[in-house]
This record gives sequence, structure tokens and C-alpha cells, in this order.
Amino acid sequence: MKKIFTLIAFLILTAGFAWADDGKGLSLLNTGRDMYMKHCASCHHAERYGLKAPALIPETLRAYKSEELAKVIKDGLAASQMPSLKGVLTDGDIDKIISHITLPLNNVRWATGNG
Ligand code: HEC
Repeated sequence: MKKIFTLIAFLILTAGFAWADDGKGLSLLNTGRDMYMKHCASCHHAERYGLKAPALIPETLRAYKSEELAKVIKDGLAASQMPSLKGVLTDGDIDKIISHITLPLNNVRWATGNG
């Protein structure tokens, strides 16, 4: 009996990861915030306050259009620690991250949901 539960748990987990990879945002593991936590938080801080890198909040990003933000994320910033994430993130991933970093701080969606 225990084996069946283990098998079911395994199937549920692997199904989750399969969704996470399809880039269509069906998965709970693939929200803008999840991807931000994975790829950006180590430098920009989990709450986007800035750490080794500037805060990523609407107040600091006002000067950028979303295409310009996408370019910074894809190409990185020359002569700085800001890495290029081309080949790591899809355009869809980048759009979700941009939606996350341009949310006002008092309006951050902490729960994993859409976006
Ligand atoms: C290894 C550390 C590091 C990681 C990881 C990182 N960044 Fe950066 N980022 C920086 C640094 C440092 C700067 C400031 C560069 C400069 O202008 O000198 C920066 C600058 C930026 C800027 C411009 C901010 C401004 O005020 O002009 C944006 C936007 C940005 N990063 C987004 C992101 C996003 C989104 C991610 C994740 C996908 C990310 N960064 C991951 C280090 C990092």
C-alpha cells in the first residue's frame, strides 16, 4: 500500500515539473515571482529592495519601458554584475518577471498564482 502512495506522490511531483517546463504558465512553479526568486533575488533581494544590485520596484524602474527591461534581462548590463539571461529564460518567462518587478511593493502577490 505504501508503495502506491509513493508512486502517486512521484507522479504528482513529476507532472508538476513537466508543467513548469512548458513555458505557458500553467504551473504553480513557474510564476514571475518564482522565477524572480530563482534568477534575480540573490542580487536584487527577495523583496526586491536591492542588495548587491539596485532595488527592482516601480519607483526605480520608471525610466524603463518594458521592452528596455526585457533587453536588460536578456543582454545583461555591460561592465557590471548584471548577467545576461538569454538562453536561460524564454520571452514568456521574462514578461512574467517584468510583471513581478513592476508591481508596487504594497501590492505584491505573495501567493503562487497567475503571473
Ligand atoms: C549576479 C547578480 C545579479 C543577478 C543574478 C541579477 N542582476 Fe540585475 N543587476 C545586477 C547589478 C549589479 C545591476 C546594476 C548594474 C549597473 O548599472 O551597474 C543590475 C541591474 C539591473 C537592472 C537595471 C536597474 C536600474 O535601476 O537601472 C534591472 C532591470 C535588472 N538588473 C533586472 C534583473 C532581473 C530581472 C534579474 C533576474 C532575471 C537580475 N537582474 C539578475 C546584478 C544582478
